[in-house]
This record gives sequence, structure tokens and C-alpha cells, in this order.
Amino acid sequence: MPSPLFDTATPLAPLRAELDAAIARVVDSGKYILGPEVSAFEREFAGYCGARHAIGVANGTEALTIALRSLGVGPGDEVVVPSFTFYASAEAIPPTGARPVFCDVDRETFCVTPDTVRAALTPRTKAVIVVHLFGNVAPVAEIEALGVPVIEDAAQAAGSTARDGRPGALGTLASFSFFPSKNLGCFGDGGAITTRDDELADRIRMLRFHGSWDKVTYEHVGYNSRLDELQAAILRVQLPHLDTWADGRRAAAQHYEDAGLGELVELPRPVAGARPAWHLYVVRSERADELAAALRAAGHGYKAYYRTPVHLQPAMREYAGDADLPATTEVARTHLAIPISPVLTAELAAEVVSAAREAGLAVAY
Ligand SMILES: Cc1ncc(COP(=O)(O)O)c(C=O)c1O
Repeated sequence: MPSPLFDTATPLAPLRAELDAAIARVVDSGKYILGPEVSAFEREFAGYCGARHAIGVANGTEALTIALRSLGVGPGDEVVVPSFTFYASAEAIPPTGARPVFCDVDRETFCVTPDTVRAALTPRTKAVIVVHLFGNVAPVAEIEALGVPVIEDAAQAAGSTARDGRPGALGTLASFSFFPSKNLGCFGDGGAITTRDDELADRIRMLRFHGSWDKVTYEHVGYNSRLDELQAAILRVQLPHLDTWADGRRAAAQHYEDAGLGELVELPRPVAGARPAWHLYVVRSERADELAAALRAAGHGYKAYYRTPVHLQPAMREYAGDADLPATTEVARTHLAIPISPVLTAELAAEVVSAAREAGLAVAY
């Protein structure tokens, strides 16, 4: 049976009546912006993450920009960010006036490490954006110990855990995206910023509403960037199921291992102490194109997400300098996402693995 790259519909099907009721509740309330649903979701999501505050914003990209602004990042500053990530992780930096400085990742975890971040630090570094890529969890505490505030880009890591807590509560600030395909996704765009710091939380609330503390006087140039009531109500229905879905994603990864996928390609390695809720299940192979062709022939989903890393994208040319990022170059060439979802069965995983096996792949590293 063909397996899609991801399946957002099946896990939501049993929640349909609850979702319909939540949507009707908002429509009937007549409150659509910054009302009780957003407040309740912010409370519930902060509690889930183990952060003191969650502030709903319009999307995960603006969550990063606003998080940077709340730290006072501006012209003349540098922000370290990996190049092997979704473009938005770096795109969020220039609107603050600061420059992205690209760092490398670990080829087995796809995440930054204290060493790759240290290599990119300068006296102008004001913050580091650490991406929990594909649901893995980067070692935030070790990186923050380098002496710079860390913003976790947790867009892909809702539901994951680390030794010392959940994404969202590991660094100074964290950003989330609730884009529909994410581990926790709404029915449009949405995002949030979490922090344990009361002062940063106040500043973020001010920045998301046009830079005004009291909605009368406008002291800062801010943003119109809010999670809306409908999306918050939809997220509140889903949040209690996030851990079950995360378990399903981990079980799917285990099905791949049990079916022998590790004999054919390099499997993603969790960062020490992390239990990733794999948002994407990304393997590596020198023969990634042949793997893609074999999966296509069998009707399975696959995708190479970041063949051109961010520092080589045209819009980032002025910031890339002579960045030498060997692991980024390698994983950009060799990675391939294969089907993953909270409901991927052992049978489907075995079919994907047998399609890969028929292509005659073997671990080449
Ligand atoms: C790692 C990462 N950062 C940032 C974003 C941006 O989120 P959004 O699409 O909600 O702006 C995404 C997702 O799209 C992402 O995957």
C-alpha cells in the first residue's frame, strides 16, 4: 500500500466533532482577536512546555523576529543560525537589522552543537537561534553556557522531550509554528513564543500589538502579529493529544528500525537524552536519488527538504561570506525524508523498507 510523506488527516478524524464545536463556539462568541481562546491556549501551552509564558503570534517566522526584538537585537548585531534548516530560521533575522552568521550542524543529529556554534561567535553575537530540526532536540543548555542567549526554533519539535525538559523551556526564548503540517498544527497560520522571563514576555506582548503597552500610546515600531481565536480554539482541542501523537511518531521510527532500514541507509540519531517526536523522518544515503526513485516507483512519499542550504540561497548571499560548513554541505546532498506520521504502522514501514531494499541500497558511510 502506498504511504504518504505525512498524514495529518487520520489523527484528526476522531476529533472532528470536537473541532466543529470549538469553531462554532468562536463564531458564536463574536470575539475573534485576542480573546478568551487565545488566553486559555497560551496558559495551556505554557503549562505543556513547562514555560512560565506562551504568547500567541501570527506564525513561526514572526515568532523568531519578535523574540529577537524582545532581546534588543538590532543593527550592528550578529545572530548565529544553522544553514541546514528551513529558510525562515534565518529570514527572521534581517528584519531586526542584525546579520545572520551561519554555523554548521552535526551530520548525524542534523542539529547545531556547542562546537559548531562556538566557531561562529564574535564579539558582535547577540543571540543564537538553535533549531530543533526534524523534531530532534539540540543541546540548548550547553550552548547557552557559551554565554549568549539562545532562542530555540522549536517549529518542528512540539511533542519532543530532552533530558532537562521540553522544547520551549530549555533556552531564554523559544518559537513555535502551528503551520498545518507541524506536529501541533492549526487550520491556517499560527505561532507562539515561550519564555520563563516575565519581562521578555511583557515586551513580546507589546511588540505583537504594534509596539504599544496600553493600545493607546505607540512607543515602538512593532508588529500586527497575533494568533487568532479560531486557531487557538482548534489548537486547544489538539494539545491534549500531542503526547500520544509523539509516541506514535517514535513508534513509527522504531518500526523502520525493526524492519532493518538501518542496514540500507543512515538513520537519524537522537541528540543525547532527547526523545524526538520525529516531525520528519530523514535518512542519509550517498544514493539518495536512487532511494527517491525506488520510493516513487512503489508509490511512497519522499522529499529532499533542504538540498540548497540557506547560506547558498540567493537572498542570503550578502550574509554568507566564505562560510565553510562541511557537514551542512554533506547532509544537504544526502538527506531524504521518508513517510512519517503518528499513525504509520509496522506494515507500512516494512513496505517502505522493502522498496528501499529492492533498490539495492546499503549503508555506505
Ligand atoms: C524550522 C522552522 N523554522 C521556522 C518556520 C516558520 O514557521 P511559519 O511557517 O509558521 O512561519 C518553520 C516552518 O515552516 C520551520 O520548519
